[in-house]
Amino acid sequence: MFSTLAVVVLSSSLFLVVNSQGIVCSTSNATSQCPESTPCCSEYGFCGTGNFCLGGCNPLYSNSLDSCLPNPLCEDATHTFTDNSRILTNASSFDGNATDYDWVVDKGSIINTNSSGGELGLILTETNGGTRLSSTRYVHYGTISVKIKTGRWPGVVTAFITMSNIKDEIDWEFLGSNTTTGQTNYYWQGVIPNATHGQTETGVSDTFANYHEYTIDWQPDALAFSIDGNVVRTIKESDAVNPTTGVNEYPNTPSRVQLSLWPAGINTSAPGTVNWAGGMINWQDPDYVSAGHFYALVQSVTVKCADPQSPGANITSYIYGSNSTTDTPSVAFSNQTTVNGADTLLVGFGLGIGGRALSWVLPALVGLAIALV
Ligand SMILES: *[C@@H]1O[C@H](CO)[C@@H](O)[C@H](O)[C@H]1NC(C)=O
Ligand SMILES: *[C@@H]1O[C@H](CO)[C@@H](O)[C@H](O)[C@H]1NC(C)=O
Ligand SMILES: *[C@@H]1O[C@H](CO)[C@@H](O)[C@H](O)[C@H]1NC(C)=O
Ligand SMILES: *[C@@H]1O[C@H](CO)[C@@H](O)[C@H](O)[C@H]1NC(C)=O
Ligand SMILES: *[C@@H]1O[C@H](CO)[C@@H](O)[C@H](O)[C@H]1NC(C)=O
Ligand SMILES: *[C@@H]1O[C@H](CO)[C@@H](O)[C@H](O)[C@H]1NC(C)=O
Ligand SMILES: *[C@@H]1O[C@H](CO)[C@@H](O)[C@H](O)[C@H]1NC(C)=O
Ligand SMILES: *[C@@H]1O[C@H](CO)[C@@H](O)[C@H](O)[C@H]1NC(C)=O
Ligand SMILES: *[C@@H]1O[C@H](CO)[C@@H](O)[C@H](O)[C@H]1NC(C)=O
Ligand SMILES: *[C@@H]1O[C@H](CO)[C@@H](O)[C@H](O)[C@H]1NC(C)=O
Repeated sequence: MFSTLAVVVLSSSLFLVVNSQGIVCSTSNATSQCPESTPCCSEYGFCGTGNFCLGGCNPLYSNSLDSCLPNPLCEDATHTFTDNSRILTNASSFDGNATDYDWVVDKGSIINTNSSGGELGLILTETNGGTRLSSTRYVHYGTISVKIKTGRWPGVVTAFITMSNIKDEIDWEFLGSNTTTGQTNYYWQGVIPNATHGQTETGVSDTFANYHEYTIDWQPDALAFSIDGNVVRTIKESDAVNPTTGVNEYPNTPSRVQLSLWPAGINTSAPGTVNWAGGMINWQDPDYVSAGHFYALVQSVTVKCADPQSPGANITSYIYGSNSTTDTPSVAFSNQTTVNGADTLLVGFGLGIGGRALSWVLPALVGLAIALV
C-alpha cells in the first residue's frame, strides 16, 4: 500500500510546480545537473541562484556538490510558541541565517492561538493549499520530539517529518480520517519506498483532542519512533539494506524538520491519495465553517543533536563532499557561512502543496513510471 501511495501523493504536486520557471533539474538522471550560470537545483526542481541555493537545494542535481549553500549546523533547542517571533512567514525573504529565525513558512499561513502558553496553528483553507514550516537548521542524526494536535478531518493530513536536501526522509503522518493512528515511514534519496517502510501505529488516544509527543529518534545505528516516550517502532541501520540492489537505504544526510498540514483529499490528487487520506475534504464541515479554516496545533518541538562527531570550534554548517564509496555523498562539517549574500538574493522559486509531496515532484515522475509497469 505504501509504495503506491507515495507515488500518487507525490504526483499530485505536479500541477502546482509546472507553474514555476527555470530549467528543470531534479530528475534521477545525473546528466541533468544545473548549468554554471544557474547552479543550484532548488527543492522544487528548478535551476537558479540566490535562494534556490538555500533549504532543500539538491546538491546531486546542482552544478556541483558544493553549489548549494552549506546547511546550518544542528543546535539543541526546545522551540515553544509563546508567539511566532522566531518564525519567518515570508520564505522568499530568508537569507539562510539560522540565528535570525528557527522556522520558515514555505507555504501557507500560521496563527498563534495565544492559549495554553502559546500554540502554533498550521492553517489549511480551500484556497491556501496547506501550510508547511521548515526548520532553518539541519539535524544530522538526533532526537526530535513534537507535541502536536492533529487535524481530524477526512482528506486532511498532518505531518511531522525530517527531510534532507537529497531527500532522505523520516515521517510521522496523521490522517484526519483516523485520529487513533499515526503512520511512520522512511525514504532514502527519493527512492520509492519498499512497502514495508511504511507502518501504521494504532491505539493512540484521540490525536486531535490530545497533545501527544511524537518522537523521531534518528541515530547512526538505528531509527526509533515513539509516542509519549514509548517506542512503537525501531529500524536498525543494518536492516535497511535493499535486498535487490544491495544498497543501504538508511537515511543518512542532514535534514530539516518540517511540520505541515496539507490537503490530500482534493480533486487534483490521484485517486489513491484521496483514498489513503480518507476521501475528499468536506469544506462544509462545521469545524471549517466555524473557524474559517482547518488547523493543527503545535505546542513544542525539541531537538537534541547527535552528530557522529562533535563539531569543533567555529563550525557553522554541513557540506556535501564527493568522496564516498557508499552511494551517498559524504557529509562534513564546515565553517563556511550559510548566509546568502544580499546582492544575490533572488525570489520566485515555485511553491507547491505542503507536506513532503512538494519536494518529490520529479522523483515522482520516475516513480510513477515504475509503479505503472
Ligand atoms: C538522461 O541521460 C541521457 C544520457 O545519459 C540523455 O540522453 C537523456 O536525454 C537524459 N534525460 C534527461 C531527462 O535529462
Ligand atoms: C517577501 O519577501 C520578498 C523578498 O524580500 C519580497 O519581494 C516580497 O514582497 C515579500 N512578500 C511579502 C508578502 O511580504
Ligand atoms: C545572522 O544574524 C545574526 C543575528 O541577527 C547576526 O548577528 C549575524 O551577523 C548574521 N550573520 C550573517 C552572516 O549575516
Ligand atoms: C494572538 O496574539 C496576537 C498578538 O497579540 C494577535 O495578533 C493574534 O490575533 C492572536 N491570535 C488569536 C487566535 O487570537
Ligand atoms: C483507525 O485505524 C484502526 C487501525 O487500522 C482501526 O482499527 C480503526 O477502526 C480505524 N478507525 C476509524 C474511525 O476508521
Ligand atoms: C523490503 O524490506 C523488507 C524488510 O527490510 C525486506 O524483507 C524485503 O525483502 C524488502 N523488499 C524489497 C523488494 O526490497
Ligand atoms: C475541483 O474543485 C474546485 C473547488 O475545490 C472546483 O472549483 C473545480 O471545478 C474542481 N475541478 C474538477 C475538475 O472537478
Ligand atoms: C575560530 O575562529 C577564531 C576567530 O576567527 C580563530 O582565532 C580561531 O583560531 C578559530 N578556531 C579554530 C579551531 O579554527
Ligand atoms: C574527503 O576525504 C578527506 C580525506 O579523508 C577528508 O579530509 C575530507 O573532509 C572529506 N571531505 C568531505 C566533504 O567529506
Ligand atoms: C575555517 O576552516 C579552515 C580550514 O577548513 C581554516 O583554515 C580557517 O582558519 C577556518 N576559519 C575559522 C574562522 O575558523
